[in-house]
Amino acid sequence: MGAHEHEHSHADWAEMSASLERRAAAYAPMTARIIEQVRAAQPEPRRIVDAGSGPGVVTRALAEAFPSAEVVAVDATQALLDLTARRAERNGLGDRVRTRLAELPAGLADVGDADVIWLGLALHHLGDQRAALAEFARHLAPGGVLVLLEGGLPARYLPRDIGIGTPGLQARLDAADAARFNEMRAALPDVKDEAEDWGALLTAAGLTHLETRTHLLDLPAPASATVRAHVADVFGRGRGGLREGLDADDAATVARLIDPDDEAGLDHRPDVFLLATQTVHAGRKRKDA
Ligand SMILES: C[S@@+](CC[C@H](N)C(=O)[O-])C[C@H]1O[C@@H](n2cnc3c(N)ncnc32)[C@H](O)[C@@H]1O
Repeated sequence: MGAHEHEHSHADWAEMSASLERRAAAYAPMTARIIEQVRAAQPEPRRIVDAGSGPGVVTRALAEAFPSAEVVAVDATQALLDLTARRAERNGLGDRVRTRLAELPAGLADVGDADVIWLGLALHHLGDQRAALAEFARHLAPGGVLVLLEGGLPARYLPRDIGIGTPGLQARLDAADAARFNEMRAALPDVKDEAEDWGALLTAAGLTHLETRTHLLDLPAPASATVRAHVADVFGRGRGGLREGLDADDAATVARLIDPDDEAGLDHRPDVFLLATQTVHAGRKRKDA
């Protein structure tokens, strides 16, 4: 996820629900493979906690992939939990999907120990990531698996030269994203600097580091409507384009890209694709823990 998707404060999550849904829809083929990675480590979980569950697209996928599991979606934004519950109901999963409003990492106490805790792009929104991982580890059942989605390469959506503006736009957006990500973290409550050696942090939380693996999402051009909608979000359609950190030339290019009426825009161009990666770190709680 690019950091321009991170610039919002905690209170804005509800507003972002539609773009979180569109992203999750575009990334669904890769999520399915990550779920298979989880299945290999934990074939028959009874309780799965989706921590920082957002709009519940992944919650639904987990519930469908593990038909004998209860899935508990935990998030601090009620509107997102409402979407999650409605999505579960619509798909006949209402009896197995529970939602819980809680500020993470606290608030898991009465959820019950989990065989899987899925932390999808959520840990980096918590100030003290080391303490949070230790708290999550406490809420795993013996033998339970913590699945941490953090890291990977910046996604790519367009060729280097798109025929308008100065070639290399995405590389310049990456730099702006990295700066914004730092600002986002610096503004979190009780933020602690932490080197992002996720394997070492899983070990420090008392877990056995099972593996770190990077999945590829390779959806070549021409993009589907689902991918185009997500890419338009990434380029800031919902807020009139990305401006911070861009010079006037790049800002003008982005304005054309997000314009639904521009033939060179994302809705019409034949060269839009989605090439993304997601690194997944898995840790297991000892059976005798
Ligand atoms: C980037 S979204 C990821 C959503 C979902 N896991 C996915 O992959 O589609 C991060 C989610 O974490 C939630 N979140 C952020 N900080 C939180 C906190 N301190 N406690 C609980 N939830 C939090 C937000 O409300 C948001 O839904």
